[in-house]
Amino acid sequence: MDKNRIYVFDTTLRDGEQSPGCSMNTEEKIKVARQLEKLGVDVIEAGFAAASPGDFDAVSRIAQEVKNSSICSLSRAIENDIKQAGLAVQSANLKRIHTFIATSPIHMKYKLKMSEDEVIKRAIRAVEYAKTFVDDVEFSLEDAGRSEIPFMKEVMDAVIGAGATTINLPDTVGYRLPTELAAMIKELSDYANDRAIISVHNHNDLGLATANTLAAVASGARQIEVTINGLGERAGNSALEEAVMAIKTRKDAFGELYTNINTPELYPTSRLVATITGVEPQQNKAIVGKNAFSHESGIHQDGVLKYQETYEIMKPQDVGVIKDSTLILGKHSGRAAFKDKISQLGFDEVSQEELNSAFEKFKVLADKKKDVTDDDVRMLITDESLNQCKTFELQALQISDCSNGVPTAAVSIKHNDEVLTDANIGNGTMDAIFKTIDRLTGYSGELQSYNVTSVTKGKDALAKVTTRVVFDKTSPSFVGHGLSVDTMLATAKAYVGALNSYLSQKERLATKHDHEV
Ligand code: KIV
Ligand code: ZN
Repeated sequence: MDKNRIYVFDTTLRDGEQSPGCSMNTEEKIKVARQLEKLGVDVIEAGFAAASPGDFDAVSRIAQEVKNSSICSLSRAIENDIKQAGLAVQSANLKRIHTFIATSPIHMKYKLKMSEDEVIKRAIRAVEYAKTFVDDVEFSLEDAGRSEIPFMKEVMDAVIGAGATTINLPDTVGYRLPTELAAMIKELSDYANDRAIISVHNHNDLGLATANTLAAVASGARQIEVTINGLGERAGNSALEEAVMAIKTRKDAFGELYTNINTPELYPTSRLVATITGVEPQQNKAIVGKNAFSHESGIHQDGVLKYQETYEIMKPQDVGVIKDSTLILGKHSGRAAFKDKISQLGFDEVSQEELNSAFEKFKVLADKKKDVTDDDVRMLITDESLNQCKTFELQALQISDCSNGVPTAAVSIKHNDEVLTDANIGNGTMDAIFKTIDRLTGYSGELQSYNVTSVTKGKDALAKVTTRVVFDKTSPSFVGHGLSVDTMLATAKAYVGALNSYLSQKERLATKHDHEV
């Protein structure tokens, strides 16, 4: 085993998806998984297969599609969970089961109501059973950050004896300080020696997740469990992009340690996850925030112009940030130039259908907008690949002048090859649009959040609208995306997109229940 290699285990699709409002549908999860593969992550935790038929389906679809990263499912140390995990990852090229039980006194006493002996026995049974499905089994001592070292050593001996190859020591509640975590990891990785890879999984409740991850790496951990944009339960997990770039940038501190991450894919991955979940990283977020590479003060700008390293410790292009959105195509550009541009921008998996549709949209945009930039094209393609569930398709929108009269919206929607048209009034233009769509489709949505940003600068910029909508009280909210130079048109598209996403999930879950996984 290469002692200097740090394995990157991405849990955006499992722990990240546990962030409030971050649920993704199966198609979206597959897109993220493919991008994580391109990013070069070693293990993708694709979900918690036993959680629901929908989760099982997503993990098994990802297992079929991804070839170069290992596909993992989480499971409690319970027979049925492990079985579902094993079945879901069955068809993967590389596969892993990740099973866990809590080992801290507080969790064992109040949550599990189990003695130490019972926990050890359950852990051994879980690993042995997981081994009947896969060779690669990871065991987590949940709440390791608050567990006692002698007991953790006993659990480690037991599960390594049963066949676990990776031992994960999560700081489940984000409690530890870097110095404390470093000491714990040093003692336990020395104890494990060559018997297993030691992994860390840090939550960010005190804002220390990445600091803890790095302290653990410096103390012997060789797997880091991380998420894109730091998504995850409560305050989130350690962010993949931060941990990876710290190891890469601070060679003086980390020596020969390295990850296999293809760092120019960091920013595209962050954008994809933010667009799909509708959760934008804060503007000053390290590595992927909007301001991460922009210099506001004159002194800094002057310094960077004279010598980049005066104020920049990483090159933006090393993480995939392209600073200047270059002018590229005009309304006379043809399909070949458009296709060429798309592959230059790194979209190598665009289907012919997506390409045709994006090209049509490009032509419409080029008619309306003077300069079509790389960012515009990137958004057109992303929008096309996100809006693939099309139970309802917005065909036309007409809104009245809302300054003098009653705000009114007329909407045409295509459904099953039929075009339905209706109009309605509302308290404002958006209200009128949503009410009309509700009446046309027969679904009534409750808007949870609404966000509009412009893709580029300029008065004629494309508006990108993200809506989060609840369509039935028993389901989570669904995210929809809309793109247009007209903000209200983008709003209507985003609302219909959220409805389509809800319907795709609803139908899939219903079918799955019939088949009893
Ligand atoms: O935070 C945690 O302890 C977890 C485990 C299931 C690894 O997410
Ligand atoms: Zn966690």
